[in-house]
Amino acid sequence: MGKVVVLDHPLIKHKLTFVRDKNTGPKEFKELVKEISTLMAYEVTRDLPLEEIEIETPIAKTKSQIISGKKLGLIPILRAGLGMVDGMLDLLPAAKVGHIGLYRDPETLEAVEYYCKLPNDIEERDLILLDPMLATGVSAIAAINFLKEKGGKSIKFVCLVAAPEGIEAIHKEHPDVEIYVASIDEGLNEDAYIVPGLGDAGDRLFGTK
Ligand code: URA
Repeated sequence: MGKVVVLDHPLIKHKLTFVRDKNTGPKEFKELVKEISTLMAYEVTRDLPLEEIEIETPIAKTKSQIISGKKLGLIPILRAGLGMVDGMLDLLPAAKVGHIGLYRDPETLEAVEYYCKLPNDIEERDLILLDPMLATGVSAIAAINFLKEKGGKSIKFVCLVAAPEGIEAIHKEHPDVEIYVASIDEGLNEDAYIVPGLGDAGDRLFGTK
């Protein structure tokens, strides 16, 4: 079984409650998703390598650590993944951002790519794939397949809410992909919505429907 990290910090739990609440409107929803993403970025980057450099404080020379030239790529899955980008960029301003657009073919139920623009050196980057919802895992798996086909080697998947079915599906296909999640919910309903979840994340972010 691959690695799943549940980020259950009180600040994340508190904000997630208001994200779930159906009375939260798009403006507040967007702000909360951004704030949760910033908090998640902190944990997702916990294993970044450090190097020691010499600096001078006003008092003395000292050795101190900085992040060791690691290149990151943030890859939101359109469209709901967009809501997580700015919050992550607040902490990781040097990350490059690539976009993947997928839709589900109504006949085959397969995820089909309709848009893709990635940094041209993704094989050298630690990629952080973003989608607030991990439901069946179909689009996440398609996006991971796609990133690997394009040369991606190091991939983490970050979502706000996951169904156990989606976690299992990703790890069956891609056991190397670590999953970071704020909450693992009960499961999926007959329409493949996460229960209790938060509804359609794209609609709630962008006020559509
Ligand atoms: N996508 C969503 O936006 N919400 C769900 O509950 C499942 C998939």
